[in-house]
Amino acid sequence: MGSSEGAYRTALVTGGSSGIGQALAERLAADGALVVLAARRAERLHAVAEGIEAAGGRARVEPMDVTETTAAVARIRALDAELGGFDLVVANAGVGMKHKGLPSYAWEAMAEACHLNFCGAAATLTAVLPQMVERGRGHVVGISSIASFAPIPGRGGYCAPKAGLSMLLECLRLELAGTGVHATAVHPGFVRTAMTAKSEGALPFVMDPPTAAARIVDALPAFPAAIDFPWQLAAAARLGAALPRSVRDRVMGTAAARR
Ligand SMILES: NC(=O)c1ccc[n+]([C@@H]2O[C@H](COP(=O)([O-])OP(=O)(O)OC[C@H]3O[C@@H](n4cnc5c(N)ncnc54)[C@H](OP(=O)(O)O)[C@@H]3O)[C@@H](O)[C@H]2O)c1
Repeated sequence: MGSSEGAYRTALVTGGSSGIGQALAERLAADGALVVLAARRAERLHAVAEGIEAAGGRARVEPMDVTETTAAVARIRALDAELGGFDLVVANAGVGMKHKGLPSYAWEAMAEACHLNFCGAAATLTAVLPQMVERGRGHVVGISSIASFAPIPGRGGYCAPKAGLSMLLECLRLELAGTGVHATAVHPGFVRTAMTAKSEGALPFVMDPPTAAARIVDALPAFPAAIDFPWQLAAAARLGAALPRSVRDRVMGTAAARR
């Protein structure tokens, strides 16, 4: 068990059917939480839940498409009421851009990422915030990305919704101060999942999902504003963001120069 043993009794993890979400759910369940696994692929959710239960943990499967925000919010609220209130809500579900035969600036290339990575995440994070504030406790966590720190040519459809998610979490953190409810933005670098399996480029400092989950869950009890890792990539991206635009443009180049 990790250092946050017992910190959360009930947790919702979206995108719990694979990758970082699965690893987060497994770690939270190992620490004693009842974990609600939400994603679209019910069979994958059941497989993850069976693994958690075989290891002595507790999990519940909730097939859900979080881009259907009205239905998702209603379901999360109903679960919150039924389970006595979520202590932790993790908006983890996310996708990369679609590249096949599409220019990166086409709506079709970025539509799913915009709907899921910002709107789906925002709906997840805020669904039971009023209830958490009324109870005087709770923690909402969004899995953003180091890609939210600075512009990357050809990846606007991923960077922009992730930057929006990070900004939303910063606003919530300030607004919730003193309520007993906390907000944290997580900015991972590269993690070995289905998302990065499609990548043809280098993946510096890449890590496995359980390592990423440990970085996140170990840091949560301090209710940090942000959890950024690995520090080398985070520092480089923060430095890139702080550069004057004229310098940054020369360093980053343009999408045309990269083709
Ligand atoms: N891997 C990395 O290097 C990396 C780096 C930084 C940030 N991240 C972020 O980490 C998060 C998890 O990604 P991952 O790398 O673990 O990739 P992944 O293995 O592909 O996981 C994505 C998860 O999102 C779920 N999902 C997709 N569309 C959904 C929808 N409409 N409604 C509900 N769930 C949906 C998927 O399940 P279903 O298909 O079953 O719905 C899956 O469980 C994402 O937000 C990603 O942007 C990843």
